[in-house]
Amino acid sequence: MTIKDIPQKNLEGKNILVRVDFNVPTEKKGNEIVITNDLRIKAAIPTIKYLIDSKAKVVLVSHFGRPKGFDAELKMDPIAKRLSELLGKKVSKLNDSIGPEVQSAIEKMQAGDICLLENIRFYKEEEKNDTEFARNLAKPFQIYVNDAFGTSHRAHASTAGVSAYLSPSVAGLLLEKEVNALSGILKNPLRPFTTILGGSKISSKIEIIKQLIPKVDTLLIGGAMAFTFVKAAGGEIGESLYEESFIPTIKEIDILKEEHAVAIVLPEDMLCAKKEDLISKKPDKELHIFPINKIPAGYAGVDIGPNTIAKFSKMISQSQTLFWNGPMGMFEDPLFMPGTKGIAEALVEVTKKKSITVVGGGDSVSAIEELGISFESFTHVSTGGGASMEFIEGKTLPGISCLDKKMSVKN
Ligand code: ADP
Ligand code: 3PG
Ligand code: MG
Repeated sequence: MTIKDIPQKNLEGKNILVRVDFNVPTEKKGNEIVITNDLRIKAAIPTIKYLIDSKAKVVLVSHFGRPKGFDAELKMDPIAKRLSELLGKKVSKLNDSIGPEVQSAIEKMQAGDICLLENIRFYKEEEKNDTEFARNLAKPFQIYVNDAFGTSHRAHASTAGVSAYLSPSVAGLLLEKEVNALSGILKNPLRPFTTILGGSKISSKIEIIKQLIPKVDTLLIGGAMAFTFVKAAGGEIGESLYEESFIPTIKEIDILKEEHAVAIVLPEDMLCAKKEDLISKKPDKELHIFPINKIPAGYAGVDIGPNTIAKFSKMISQSQTLFWNGPMGMFEDPLFMPGTKGIAEALVEVTKKKSITVVGGGDSVSAIEELGISFESFTHVSTGGGASMEFIEGKTLPGISCLDKKMSVKN
């Protein structure tokens, strides 16, 4: 069920607890905490506006970072300020997330008012999904809305436990949009369906590869992930990053790919840097292009090469459904951004031709932002890192399964 399934008149004057994911990246400038990417705050606005328009009393709750108890640097104040700027409306920031202060602040709220509770992870009971804590959190409210897709893979008090004490417990508009976009590409994708995977850790993405093989037509593998495949096939990868313990799994993937007639396409050429230049962070690095299976000792592959960018881009342009997770190279260094840039641009072009493009993963989304490409250039950019991965793997997410059923998910 989503908030749209509740008649709007039944929201009027109600105290509504909305779990959002305002766990945003920040930077410390002097004494100030500066938000470096507000995608997650912006993404929660449709639900917040809908509830304000419905004349509800809107109380938002989120975690921020991974505090162990109270941490002055992880208070929600800069986030409340940013939200207030984006909404053009006062957002009261409370200094607690449960208890008498919250209760009395809510009693003073008028219909259409909005407030943000303090970082819920200041209480250790949150992550333990403590029953008594969840009951106390629920106390001042009549309705629970979960719009925190990015945290829906966590069974915590504010993402799951609280729903036991509030009825109805429903999905917000962002959660619904994420579920529709991600399940839509998995259920009935237009073909060809191509997935592009990159990033550094094969260990955290191997399950996704296995789950995706029966569903996709083509898997393009870039980033450091490619080296474990090349190593398994006996190639020379120099000092490039790979995960020895996953070589047997690559062999299983090879069998799976044959069974499902899926093409796994690895890079042909790699941009490589001297290992010692990478370690010393030398600015004028000596760069070479080598075939991915002939990288000499002393060199590490840091980005896909120009032939691979061209080849992957062509395959992307011929696909109708695309899912991208993980940068193609060590994009944090602008010298190693071209691969990720090339893939992002190919996805933007194919979106213009009405193909469906979905991007997930914290670093991939940061790379898009760094490139100055608007999120509207893709069909959907997920606010979830771990959550989008677990969803794609087909796992049940506690923050979704705890909600009242009848969620309108498109098939
Ligand atoms: P996402 O957050 O989008 O899921 P990951 O966290 O899996 O992506 O991977 C991002 C990291 O992968 C980046 O820090 C990037 O530097 C690293 N990376 C990409 N290609 C390589 C490579 N060839 N060698 C080492 N690290 C790489
Ligand atoms: C995220 O940033 O992926 C979510 O906000 C969840 O945060 P967590 O990994 O600290 O639970
Ligand atoms: Mg990451």
